[in-house]
Amino acid sequence: MAFLADSIGRIKPSATIAVTDKARALKAAGRDVIGLGAGEPDFDTPDNIKEAAVAAIKRGETKYTAVDGIPQLKEAICAKFKRENGLTYKPSQISVGTGGKQVLFNALMATLNPGDEVIIPAPYWVSYPDIVLLAGAKPVAVTTRMEDGFKMKPEALEKAITKQTKWLIFNSPSNPTGAAYSRAEVKALTDVLVRHPHVWVLTDDMYEHLVYDDFEFFTPAQVEPSLYERTLTLNGVSKAYCMTGWRIGYAGGPEFLIKAMATLQSQSTTNPNAIAQWASVEALNGPQDFIARNNAVFKERRDLCVAMLNQANGIKCPKPEGAFYVYPSCAGTMERRTPGGKTLATDEDFVTELLEQEGVAVVQGTAFGLGPAFRISYATATSALEEACRRIQRFCGSLQ
Ligand SMILES: Cc1ncc(COP(=O)(O)O)c(C=O)c1O
Repeated sequence: MAFLADSIGRIKPSATIAVTDKARALKAAGRDVIGLGAGEPDFDTPDNIKEAAVAAIKRGETKYTAVDGIPQLKEAICAKFKRENGLTYKPSQISVGTGGKQVLFNALMATLNPGDEVIIPAPYWVSYPDIVLLAGAKPVAVTTRMEDGFKMKPEALEKAITKQTKWLIFNSPSNPTGAAYSRAEVKALTDVLVRHPHVWVLTDDMYEHLVYDDFEFFTPAQVEPSLYERTLTLNGVSKAYCMTGWRIGYAGGPEFLIKAMATLQSQSTTNPNAIAQWASVEALNGPQDFIARNNAVFKERRDLCVAMLNQANGIKCPKPEGAFYVYPSCAGTMERRTPGGKTLATDEDFVTELLEQEGVAVVQGTAFGLGPAFRISYATATSALEEACRRIQRFCGSLQ
């Protein structure tokens, strides 16, 4: 439509949301569908956090707040960064938005000009390249390999950097692969960045707490303090605190950037929901022990998925360190035929046929920039997950 802005033509709807909607529609039509598309924990928000929200409503915390966060939440975020990441930020260096996604959006919109390049290791979270495109800049995907655990090598980073590079978007543990970089692996990348002072790091630490088998999380500015002045450390309460619907995300970074992001937010959404901000104060300051309990369940589910998927014909599934995703390759099923006579030419065919034949909704890898593969979110009931893996085995077994 000529009426629409050119920028809209540059972006597409999120593939993960599309799959979730399709699964929901099939379910509503009476089909037995197991949805493994959505990236959100199936656990409920802990009671102490809900109670803090109720108390905030009763106290009348129902008005506009400071645009980029109430002081109490900024203090809680500063304390979190100090306690968990060894990073010192002042409240004036903190931005709170409506989900990590808005904070990311603000940061990219506030910094990118046409011609700027943003390095994004692939597979990537679908929103990174599209927000960069919306800002009129150029996403530069650096494709990783399954054999390297889907982690970017320092040489690949070095090669992708040009004079136009503005940001590296770093995401560990990763959506969609679950790959998480060890301290040494982070250091190998920050060593490259030290040599290129014009490149900034936007580190998306959203899945920080979701790591298994004694894996230790490190964020770039912690590993290489000399990058502190050119790092935006992004995080949020959605995943670890089971608060996806509350919509609170935050970042710490240089004051001039935080200010620019607040200006942008002041002309778009204004403050994030006041009640959700108070709930987030409790999330960050309150008891943290449920995270370990949830992680024990997530780890069990990850192990179940990896074991069962590796028994499916034509599927190879590496075991990731974190998040709640696995990213199996379905290369071994390509060019094979379904009982209905459809030849699988792409991973999109694979996920479409899997949904049609077995009622299992997953997202095709090409949407995340690397296929043929698919992403499974294992943040769903263990029994449903087991049944879904059984159906995937049956689907793969039916291919000729
Ligand atoms: C890697 C990554 N970053 C950021 C987000 C945004 O989270 P939210 O906007 O719910 O805080 C998500 C959500 O799926 C994610 O997977």
